[in-house]
Amino acid sequence: STANFTTRVSRYGAESLREAALLIRAGEPVAVPTETVYGLAADATDPQAVAAIFAAKGRPGFNPLIVHVADRAMAERLVHLPPSAATLADAFWPGPLTLVLPVRADSGLAPAVMAGLPTVAIRLPAHPAMRALIRESGRPLAAPSANRSGSISPTRAEHVLGSLNGRVRLVLDEGPTSEGLESTIVAPEDTHIRLLRPGPVTSAMLEKASGLPVINGLTPGKVEAPGQLASHYAPSKPVRLNAERAEPDEYLIGFGLMPCHANLSVEADLKEAAAHLFALLHQADASTAARIAIAPIPDEGLGIAINDRLRRAAA
Ligand code: TXA
Ligand code: MG
Repeated sequence: STANFTTRVSRYGAESLREAALLIRAGEPVAVPTETVYGLAADATDPQAVAAIFAAKGRPGFNPLIVHVADRAMAERLVHLPPSAATLADAFWPGPLTLVLPVRADSGLAPAVMAGLPTVAIRLPAHPAMRALIRESGRPLAAPSANRSGSISPTRAEHVLGSLNGRVRLVLDEGPTSEGLESTIVAPEDTHIRLLRPGPVTSAMLEKASGLPVINGLTPGKVEAPGQLASHYAPSKPVRLNAERAEPDEYLIGFGLMPCHANLSVEADLKEAAAHLFALLHQADASTAARIAIAPIPDEGLGIAINDRLRRAAA
């Protein structure tokens, strides 16, 4: 598909919100911040609006979308929440946790949202802009990350513009996102929780809140969450992991006290590193260096989600 529109970036406020809601009601996607990454949001009940998301991103039709709701009642019109899901929703909503649940027959969702699966991914976000847009438009909003499919996720309005300029009419700008990594995705079962994508809500947090074990949820050979495809979130340059120092042609992204071109967190704080990760990958990609190198990140807690994204960036 080709670039068609003049893209406007507007500071989030009463006026830009009203305009965004009008676009949503007219079946147009709008880019909007969430606490994780910027999303490309459209009316999840409108097949043409959903098709416009796939077209703008160049996203394959087999990759289903996350549906964002403004409250629990809206979620319950789309899915039944079994007890394990209700416990997780109580603990982590609003926030960066997506629940994959059987979709109700009368959900009204456009079938392309689910890409043929009997389940739908649901999230109640914490960010005021996304919540206000859902309320103002009165619709559940399908929203993948607001970037071209497979490229680095956007944590700032300028990243959205860099990736989707001419492919979306309006970007609501509310500064850098706080979490910096996409939501954790789980499929809650009666006896365990299947983890489909690691994210800001860690396995330890899920186990503590639910009392259930968290297992790696990917069925081998079956692409259930294509965000889990080997190559994803990828810069245009080669990426080398676990780098202790930079080769002459490399841009080194550091962690903790070390000589480097940019640092994820001088204090070696994983939350700060997660918040900075995609912005520094964008920066490294835009630099004059031929290749990108990244320091080792401890593989524990939030570091598991960071390393998941880094492995896909390097694949
Ligand atoms: O933080 C986030 O989740 C962001 C913000 C905008 O909310 N959204 C996001 O969307 O990361 P996206 O499309 O980039 O990633 C959605 C992931 C994909 O890997 C998709 O395959 C998976 O969710 N997914 C969606 N529906 C699913 C389902 N029914 N079963 C399993 N995986 C599903
Ligand atoms: Mg994405």
